[in-house]
Amino acid sequence: MTKTTITITRPDDWHLHMRDGEVLKHVAPFTAKQFARAIIMPNLNPPVTTVVKAVEYLDRILGAVEGTDFEPLMTLYLTDNTSADEIIAARKSCFIKGVKLYPAGATTNSDAGVTDIRLCDAALEEMQKAGLPLLVHGEVTTPEIDVFDREKVFIDKILQPLTLRFPELKIVFEHITTKEAADFVLQAGNNIAATITPHHLLYNRNAMFQGGLRPHNYCLPVLKRDIHQQALLAVIRSGNKQFFLGTDSAPHARHKKESACGCAGIFSAHAAIEIYTSIFEQQNALDKLEAFASFNGPDFYGLPRNTNSITLIKEDWQVPDHYTLGDDTLVPFLAGQTINWKLAEKN
Ligand code: DOR
Ligand code: ZN
Repeated sequence: MTKTTITITRPDDWHLHMRDGEVLKHVAPFTAKQFARAIIMPNLNPPVTTVVKAVEYLDRILGAVEGTDFEPLMTLYLTDNTSADEIIAARKSCFIKGVKLYPAGATTNSDAGVTDIRLCDAALEEMQKAGLPLLVHGEVTTPEIDVFDREKVFIDKILQPLTLRFPELKIVFEHITTKEAADFVLQAGNNIAATITPHHLLYNRNAMFQGGLRPHNYCLPVLKRDIHQQALLAVIRSGNKQFFLGTDSAPHARHKKESACGCAGIFSAHAAIEIYTSIFEQQNALDKLEAFASFNGPDFYGLPRNTNSITLIKEDWQVPDHYTLGDDTLVPFLAGQTINWKLAEKN
């Protein structure tokens, strides 16, 4: 029998760009409505490189979600100069839940990122000791490497050697996009996990070129071939607990996307859990949704699972063409399209 409602433990988003200032105020309520907690990416300008900056940012986020019980899980932005002392401070703070590795130049606001992972050995050593996860943007930045191969090359050149040097380090391979990444996580130990976005499950690279150039389907790591999309779908059908929900929702104003040099990032916070639910249903895997969305993430991070729940109703609704973003507008993922699951109003 086809389901018409589904109730699951309240989910969390294990990879989210909430931004700052005016944008933060507009996008934060979308996430707070659906998710209990979210891992907040530190790629602000300037980036969140210290515990002091993280606590200030936490305060601004809490201001933007006032009246809700949403809990931001903060991260630090790893640089060549991140000291072991900063990691110790992060561990003691208790509210820093991970440290993000952006290879320098890989994506939005990554210029201050890491130029050579070996420069981070002292920090990584301390993280390994503390059980503080390294959250990895897994792409090499070498201009000669084809943009579609950057994740695969990253595994071979950076990630695999890193796991040999720090065998106990907890690592989240963020927003995986390839069969190679899925296979890497599958053969790795339980200290290695991965997040998967709704857009990498729903689309392959054809979506960027459907009848013309589609800037709102452009993100990093870029969408890959169909075989990779299929590998990610197989992973979620399998119910393997090393994989969990991370939207990578990354808002950019419309004019920054529809530009001669458009920004990477897909905003999906407006409908994230509904989109994941549709995908799991389409894969005949609705029974695997709750673990992916609500259990595997907290279990990996060593945090309690949420105790309340949300209900989704099988009901068509149309995604708006845009949302307001102060004086700008924001074009959401699946703008104008119909989604067939809807979060119940009272949750
Ligand atoms: O598409 C992306 N957008 N990928 C990232 O890694 C960063 C993000 C952003 O911050 O806009
Ligand atoms: Zn991201």
